[in-house]
Amino acid sequence: MALPAPRCITCATRLSFAAKTLSLADIFLFILFLAFMSKILLTGAAGFIGSWLSERLLAQGHEVVGVDNFDDFYARPIKIRNLEKSRAFDGFQFVEMDLSDASALSRLPPCEAVIHLAAKAGIQPSVKDPAAYIRHNIQATQHLLAWMQAQHIRKMVFASSSSIYGNNPQIPFRESDNVDYPISPYAFTKKAGELMTHTYHYLYGMDVLNLRFLRSMAPGKDPTWPFINL
Ligand SMILES: NC(=O)c1ccc[n+]([C@@H]2O[C@H](COP(=O)([O-])OP(=O)(O)OC[C@H]3O[C@@H](n4cnc5c(N)ncnc54)[C@H](O)[C@@H]3O)[C@@H](O)[C@H]2O)c1
Repeated sequence: MALPAPRCITCATRLSFAAKTLSLADIFLFILFLAFMSKILLTGAAGFIGSWLSERLLAQGHEVVGVDNFDDFYARPIKIRNLEKSRAFDGFQFVEMDLSDASALSRLPPCEAVIHLAAKAGIQPSVKDPAAYIRHNIQATQHLLAWMQAQHIRKMVFASSSSIYGNNPQIPFRESDNVDYPISPYAFTKKAGELMTHTYHYLYGMDVLNLRFLRSMAPGKDPTWPFINL
């Protein structure tokens, strides 16, 4: 008897909303995942990618429940401004919440799918404070997966990172490249996220799309990014 095809997919993705450099395959998978989902939980909604994605989803007619804790990686007023366009839609609801606090997730409304972008970003800061990255990127992701399991939510997109390729000299990276040797705490937290999503896929049948983002650019990019003025 043929086994069902695996439904935990990983894609290396160069993401730019402004220049639309998502590959056709990535866009197809996104659409496949999200087209029939009316209410989507979007974590990291006040962040750079999250705020762009929220507007797109709302414009397409989805309901979006945005979650963010206004992490201090960059200034809160920037994130408040990021949310402005989404707040103009009736279908938008925002919950300020720290996903690393497991008890807080009971405040979340039921949803049909989860797009998990929330994370502490930044490679250098993760070297100085790995514990914070373990808390906000690994523990928070596990809390979210446990909440999804309890709520019987079976669709997820997870924001991984090209940083998990470490010192791999082979450019361009391939999904099949070895990612066992991350070289920063940030990278190992992203690898841990991929491992967790795969485990939940195996145990509970969750369909997961892991996207390994690489250097996204668009208006609203966070000001800590070194090439922001190019
Ligand atoms: N932008 C890129 O080029 C890039 C590259 C690789 C991977 N990624 C990943 O994509 C995702 C989005 O990136 P971004 O550039 O929009 O980052 P961002 O920092 O702008 O957005 C992340 C958001 O998550 C929120 N957050 C952090 N910890 C949280 C917690 N515990 N609970 C709730 N919210 C929390 C932050 O406040 C922030 O608003 C991240 O997971 C990041 O690691 C981004």
